[in-house]
Amino acid sequence: MKLSPLYFALAALAAGSVTAKPLVIAHRGASGYLPEHTLEAKALAYAMKPDYIEQDVVMTKDDQLVVLHDHYLDRVTDVADKFPDRARADKRYYAIDFTLAEIKSLRVTEGFNIDDKGNKVAGFPNRFPMWKGDFTVPTLQEEIELIQGLNKTLGYDIGIYPEIKAPWFHRHEGKDISTAVLKVLKQYGYTNQESKVYLQCFDPIELKRINDELMPAMGMDLKLVQLLAYTDWNETMVYQGNTATPYDYDWFFKPGAMKKVATYAEGIGPWKPMLVDDKSTKDNLIVLPLMQEAKQAGLAVHPYTFRADPGRIAPYAENFAGMLDVFYNKVKVDGLFTDFPDKAVHFLSEQK
Ligand code: G3P
Ligand code: CA
Repeated sequence: MKLSPLYFALAALAAGSVTAKPLVIAHRGASGYLPEHTLEAKALAYAMKPDYIEQDVVMTKDDQLVVLHDHYLDRVTDVADKFPDRARADKRYYAIDFTLAEIKSLRVTEGFNIDDKGNKVAGFPNRFPMWKGDFTVPTLQEEIELIQGLNKTLGYDIGIYPEIKAPWFHRHEGKDISTAVLKVLKQYGYTNQESKVYLQCFDPIELKRINDELMPAMGMDLKLVQLLAYTDWNETMVYQGNTATPYDYDWFFKPGAMKKVATYAEGIGPWKPMLVDDKSTKDNLIVLPLMQEAKQAGLAVHPYTFRADPGRIAPYAENFAGMLDVFYNKVKVDGLFTDFPDKAVHFLSEQK
């Protein structure tokens, strides 16, 4: 059930949560230190005590849910070596073409790109060395059991932050990934607004379907987050027959849009330049209208992605802590996604 943004603003004020400490969301786990979305990266993230740990979720050929950022396997595994004849015409290896058993047989490494000479080159050269260690792709259930198990043994209450990846693609392949994810969340006790979970998605059509149809039918009412993209990223596609065209995100950046989002979601996940203009300098911070519009609509704002790697510090900040200072203390976001959760937890612990 959706209540008005005013209700949430008043309730938050009454509960004192308007001044609550902002959140640290461990993006793909402690992915600055260990290969993204492995259980090892999640256990390390857990030890850093963020508020939430993120899971990107895609579906396998046999309808299992696995935690992978892409609906392809080739950026983070040895699939091209183990199954060389299983690529599609676009030369990509789709998770949906492989069974869970096949995916479990793959070795996971730090994310890489293929250069002009065919060499695999790490996306972040300073991170965990490629092809070292023994990492595999986890299922969503395995990851939830790890986090809930650690909540029991260590006594913290760390939440999960699953993202339904490319529901439009899964639907076109005949699979309803959203219903499958909701079933797992319900099975593990995540059912209502108080549950320690945010469910995120880039696809507004699907997020509205989750809010308006799927959750009511399943007796669920989770906090939903609308991720924001630019249209030319091709993040969300709309099929007419077999022709896919990009979903037009332009309306999200026009006045009044956030009030519409607040009718089906509790928060937004913008790319950080959508909140602070990259033309900003240390002396002239340009905060874009999206922030104020979202707050006026009663939405939580959780931008992505904060990285401490060389070349990833915004021009208006001296260093990673300076970037956190801009977003936590000046823009006043409600939380942020970071590959380096220890640094964000430490930064917040030092604030008065
Ligand atoms: O879900 C928040 C952030 O992770 C969005 O970017 O591409 O890393 O999933 P991406
Ligand atoms: Ca994500």
